[in-house]
Amino acid sequence: MSRQGKVSVIGSGFYGSTTAQRIAEYDIVEEVVLTDILEGKPEGLALDMNQSRPIEGFETRVTGATTHADGTGYEAIAGSQVVVITAGLPRKPGMSRMDLLEVNAGIVGGIAEHIAVHAPEAVIIVVSNPLDEMTALAQLRSKFPHQRVMGQAGMLDTARFTHFVAETLKVPVSSVRTLTLGSHGDTMVPVPSRCTVDGEPLARLLPAEKIEELVVRTRNGGAEIVGLLKTGSAYYAPSAAAARMARAVIEDSGAVMPVCAWVTGEYGISDVYLGVEAKLGRAGVESVIETELTDAETAALHEAAEAVRSKQADVAHM
Ligand code: LAC
Repeated sequence: MSRQGKVSVIGSGFYGSTTAQRIAEYDIVEEVVLTDILEGKPEGLALDMNQSRPIEGFETRVTGATTHADGTGYEAIAGSQVVVITAGLPRKPGMSRMDLLEVNAGIVGGIAEHIAVHAPEAVIIVVSNPLDEMTALAQLRSKFPHQRVMGQAGMLDTARFTHFVAETLKVPVSSVRTLTLGSHGDTMVPVPSRCTVDGEPLARLLPAEKIEELVVRTRNGGAEIVGLLKTGSAYYAPSAAAARMARAVIEDSGAVMPVCAWVTGEYGISDVYLGVEAKLGRAGVESVIETELTDAETAALHEAAEAVRSKQADVAHM
């Protein structure tokens, strides 16, 4: 098996470390770099992951690197094809993702500048919250082309919706197709018209009120887990989503998945980062794929775009 390339993950919390682990276990890249500002934490996690290699049977090496505010330590990410930004604070129970805006803007903005210096050719995948705004900020501060900066949210929200539908109908998750667009927040747009179970439209299998209940649960999917955990937020499903996006870029696969991407006229919406379906490859977002929506879904997507646009304008000054 030929392994090539390097992926770096910034931030060694649960989200970052599980993302690094998943990518390492794919066994498709030579090296995964894991960083953190906590001295020794990324090195310790990397050593632990490397020791799992003989058991899990993968050869990808994991390197841990402590970084500092002045940028020292970031040399470790040089040559990365993909950099995943997971750094930032997670929510506490009762907080919205938007409550993290200011503090995480300070963290993510600085990281984006260090990435621009040390890995100028990388594709950046942002997962820090509030997601759509942090993605916009990473693009502004890295000054990378929009195509090379995207955010992870749609894969996660879609996976949650799929899980809820599968549980409700007691069918395998593999039978279910769902889609969510819009923001990773209150204006998330689950798209029931595009949801099917073994090819059959969801609307024929569940009453509208039940679908709406699952939509609401999906929109609150992150908060439900934050409420249960009490400290920290979800990371198993989020890291699975981020790792799949990184893999699509590394393998130049052309896979189409819902991501937070820059739109330039799709659905009549321009110049904003928004959750849409996109084709991913080595260049990052290769194209945004427009799908047919009902009038109500299109209206909800426009509403999401305007909500995100006003917050993204705020981060430009942070
Ligand atoms: C969630 C966080 C990671 O949705 O945004 O769980």
